[in-house]
Amino acid sequence: MTIPSLVATGKVVVVTGASKGLGRAMALGFAEAGADVVVASRKLGRCEEVAAEIRAMGRRALAVSCHVAEWDQCAALINETVAEFGRIDVLVNNAGIAPVPPSLLAVTEDLFDKTIGVNLRGPLRLTALAAEHMPSGGSIINISSKASLHPSSFTVVYAAAKAGLNALTKAAADEFGSRGIRVNCIVCGTFHTDSLHRSLPSADLQAQMASRISLGRIAGADEIVGTALYLASHASSYLTGELILLDGG
Ligand SMILES: NC(=O)c1ccc[n+]([C@@H]2O[C@H](COP(=O)([O-])OP(=O)(O)OC[C@H]3O[C@@H](n4cnc5c(N)ncnc54)[C@H](OP(=O)(O)O)[C@@H]3O)[C@@H](O)[C@H]2O)c1
Repeated sequence: MTIPSLVATGKVVVVTGASKGLGRAMALGFAEAGADVVVASRKLGRCEEVAAEIRAMGRRALAVSCHVAEWDQCAALINETVAEFGRIDVLVNNAGIAPVPPSLLAVTEDLFDKTIGVNLRGPLRLTALAAEHMPSGGSIINISSKASLHPSSFTVVYAAAKAGLNALTKAAADEFGSRGIRVNCIVCGTFHTDSLHRSLPSADLQAQMASRISLGRIAGADEIVGTALYLASHASSYLTGELILLDGG
């Protein structure tokens, strides 16, 4: 028996929301592990910057502008990836938004549609399209939130969208299992990025949050990357349809 490693040498990895935050950290982490990476988000300029960092590491990279809630843009992302690299080994559905409505009654149609669109509709469409180009051994990784398991009033639509993403994980794992494609989900607790700093802007609020975590601190985005590498690699070859809670306890 060989010891499975976390290397992703030669794999083609698509990461959405890769212009910054966790997506950027994962894109760079996959490149460091030997993968070629497609860096996607709405802002092409920022994706180009991350792609340049990846090329400087000696890997291939492609920057693509994609609003994941738009089905035709999802199709364009997958088509551009396949035209450049010929296949997709790993899809990371990371792009997400978490607007905070003050009450259920204050949820507008626009907020509802945008939140569901980015966190659920996009991942569903990309999963369906990417799987068409995945060989056996392919891996789809969804980035969910602990809010999906413990919703509160101010996370209502976001929590519902991420709960949908959890369900999508299990349904897609069931559909694609016979083709050797695995689908798993990282259910994240709190980690430092722009989106966290928007929802918890003050040091006091962040300290309150940290005091409720067993490890006593909010994670860095880089601390999620190892789990994504594990889910992409042969080390997790018998794991599918699983929600991995990564929240510092
Ligand atoms: N930070 C946390 O504490 C935390 C906790 C649990 C779960 N999460 C989840 O982790 C993931 C990453 O979060 P983060 O904190 O790294 O967020 P972030 O720093 O706000 O970055 C979000 C990324 O998503 C992209 N994006 C936003 N809307 C998009 C759209 N419509 N289409 C394509 N890309 C879009 C953004 O780029 P553009 O603006 O260029 O599109 C950016 O690259 C999200 O799914 C989030 O829900 C975060």
